[in-house]
Amino acid sequence: IPVETFDLVIFGATGDLSRRKILPGLFRRFCAGQMPPEARVIGAARTEMDVAGFQQLVSDAISEFDPKNKATADDMQRFQERLDYVAIDAKGDDGWTELAGKVRKDVVTAFYFSVAPSLFGDLAERLRSNNIATSESRIVVEKPFGHDLQTAKALNATLAKHFDETQIYRIDHYLGKETVQNLMAVRFGNILFEPLWNNHFVDHIQITVAETVGVGGRGSYYDQSGAMRDMVQNHLMQLLCLIAMEPPNEFEPNAVRDEKLKVIRALDPVSPSDIVRGQYSGTDKLSGYLEDSENPDSKTESFVAMKVAISNWRWKGTPFYLRTGKRLRDRTSEIAIVFQDPPHSIFEAQEERRGNVLVIRLQPNEGITMRVTIKEPGPGGMRLIEVPLDMSFADALDEAHDVHDAYERLIMDVIRGNQTLFMRGDEVEAAWAWTDPIIEGWQERGDKPRPYDSGSSGPEDSLMLLHRDGRRWREVRA
Ligand code: BG6
Repeated sequence: IPVETFDLVIFGATGDLSRRKILPGLFRRFCAGQMPPEARVIGAARTEMDVAGFQQLVSDAISEFDPKNKATADDMQRFQERLDYVAIDAKGDDGWTELAGKVRKDVVTAFYFSVAPSLFGDLAERLRSNNIATSESRIVVEKPFGHDLQTAKALNATLAKHFDETQIYRIDHYLGKETVQNLMAVRFGNILFEPLWNNHFVDHIQITVAETVGVGGRGSYYDQSGAMRDMVQNHLMQLLCLIAMEPPNEFEPNAVRDEKLKVIRALDPVSPSDIVRGQYSGTDKLSGYLEDSENPDSKTESFVAMKVAISNWRWKGTPFYLRTGKRLRDRTSEIAIVFQDPPHSIFEAQEERRGNVLVIRLQPNEGITMRVTIKEPGPGGMRLIEVPLDMSFADALDEAHDVHDAYERLIMDVIRGNQTLFMRGDEVEAAWAWTDPIIEGWQERGDKPRPYDSGSSGPEDSLMLLHRDGRRWREVRA
């Protein structure tokens, strides 16, 4: 879908997120011909630098963080011509008049707050008081959206002083992942799945987001956060919503977000016996969590597994098992919808068989697999086996549908003015309202996470969470 011409201002343009994701994403869209001729990207940050300095920074960032990009030097030069830069003080007056002189009033304007949330209020206020943002402008903010319900409400209130909810784009980059959107396409674009998508046919659902990285380098942020705040409150919660929500009446931002909100509000409180927390230990070669966080007494979890129940007609009695952690064996994320066994088997009892499973792989090797039962080929009688009906996107689609980075898609959605894949303020607050009591409970009880080996699949107890229900985690390997 083409986009209108725009001015995109990136606050914090010299920072990590900008160099790693935003700038490479914009360059890819530029190379794909999606930046209209007059569109411009204006970097804004504290560092004093001229435009040539910023152009160099951008080209260095793209070589470092998107080394596979096949663009030519000529492409890069043409992209650099679209760039501008202003040194700015978020908390003072420096740079604001200059920025006001650069941002046009007659095109789409978007302001990406790629800065610490403590600066969101200052930026929002100055964009308004300097008459740079209009009532049509968009602002883009990144997590963390608060640390708990109270701080999230305060943050939402600060932004709401200067911008309407329809102008605020809260990024959860998981919503920009190709397969995550495919979840909606699969559910609502086919007749096959939706009739079975409920507690009559689904035994349980597993959501796994496993990472191999530790928290080294960002230990001080992470230690205040932990897996619950860093991953579950946002990314896993969003995945859960997309799986569990009712079909929206149209694919329109508020219709989709209303349905997601209803899911969050229907979540039961989680009892302590339904959660396992873990913290990775070191090995000869790798540092442990306590070293990485530089807090030898830390009780922060780098792993969490939990059983979650949704109290509504569709899902009552069908548990959702969630797990996420750092320093696990493989970097793999998937959602598995595990269906019930057929009500009656006409075949002779055979050794252990599992029912149908629909697996949606987020990364790596994005795709969808349906495990089905068939007869083992050959004359050996009616022996049943399970085989995957596999659709890997890389095989099924051609180069033009190359799996895009989440940020590429989300930034273009901001320019198009489409909020479907962005979180609304009330969703964020509802997610905290569910998460807060869990975290408060740990603090009140002085709960200590269980140690687990780096490179394992998390603490042993997380296996028990399913074993005691007569189920087991799927083996999730890269
Ligand atoms: C971020 C978290 O939001 O998501 C990180 O703060 C985490 O801790 C990252 O590593 C995972 O994102 P992805 O896209 O690599 O799965």
